[in-house]
Amino acid sequence: MANPKTLEDLFLDTLKDIYFAEKQILKALPKMARAAQSEEGKAGFLQHRDETEAQVERLEQVFEIIKKPARGKTCEAIQGILAEGEEIIEEFKNSSALDAGLISSAQAVEHYEIARYGTLIAWAKQLGLNDAVALLQDNLKEEKATDQKLTKLAETVANAKGKKAA
Ligand SMILES: [Fe+2]
Ligand SMILES: [Fe+2]
Repeated sequence: MANPKTLEDLFLDTLKDIYFAEKQILKALPKMARAAQSEEGKAGFLQHRDETEAQVERLEQVFEIIKKPARGKTCEAIQGILAEGEEIIEEFKNSSALDAGLISSAQAVEHYEIARYGTLIAWAKQLGLNDAVALLQDNLKEEKATDQKLTKLAETVANAKGKKAA
C-alpha cells in the first residue's frame, strides 16, 4: 500500500493551488483595469498586478525552500471566481454599476487568497518552514491591504453614484 499522505503533501498541493491562482489573477487584473470606469479603479487594479508579480516570485522561493519544482495545479475555485468577474464585465458593459461589480469580484478574489495564505502560513509554521512563513506573510499582508483598498473604493464609487443620482 502506498504511504499515507502527510501534511507536507497537503502543503505542497495547496502551494501549487495558490501558485496557479496567482498566475490566473496576473492575467485577469489588466482586463479588469481596462474595464474599470473610474481612474482609481484602473490604477488600483494595475498596482495590484505589479504586486501579484512579486507574489508569484515569492511563491517560487517557497518552492525552492521545500526543494520542489514550481508548478501550478488547476484551481477550479479561482477559475470560477474569475469567470464570474468576466461575466460582470460582459453583462454590465456601459452600466453605471460596472465598477461596483468589478470591485465585488476583486474582493471575492482577495478573500480566496487570504484564506489560502492563512492556511499555508499555519501549516508552514507546523512544518518548521520559517523562511516560507515570512514569504507567505508578505503575500498575505498585500492581499489584506488590497481588500481594504477595495472596500474604500467601493464607498467612493457608491458616493459618486449617489451624487450623480441626486
Ligand atoms: Fe495575490
Ligand atoms: Fe490579491
